[in-house]
Amino acid sequence: LASTEVNISQIEAGQSVTITWRGKPVFVRHRTEKEIEEARSVPLSDLPDPQTDADRVEKPEWLIVVGVCTHLGCVPLGYQGDYDGWFCPCHGSHYDTSGRIRRGPAPLNLLVPEYVFLDDSTIRIG
Ligand code: FES
Repeated sequence: LASTEVNISQIEAGQSVTITWRGKPVFVRHRTEKEIEEARSVPLSDLPDPQTDADRVEKPEWLIVVGVCTHLGCVPLGYQGDYDGWFCPCHGSHYDTSGRIRRGPAPLNLLVPEYVFLDDSTIRIG
């Protein structure tokens, strides 16, 4: 399927679900206030692939990223690593709560797919 609809009404703050889109995992993460604040407070100069958090989200509470490490394609593990985002166990890349690479061999941030909010509880990815 080219696009996928996700019902997000049951995903609590502090939780993330993984769906499949075009054969790839996509993480839909309902961020807490603390996670949003962490993502916003990082200076761009600290980022290997500089992008503001605002450029990566439609609504601050919801982060949607393709769950494929930009190093060699492993699936990173959520709520792990040094930046409360994701940790890739293959070669040790750490991503933050905006899915941005912070440390390790991955060169780029986790990809944000195209998506739209169809209403308050539904996202269409792709
Ligand atoms: Fe993720 Fe190498 S594939 S760090």
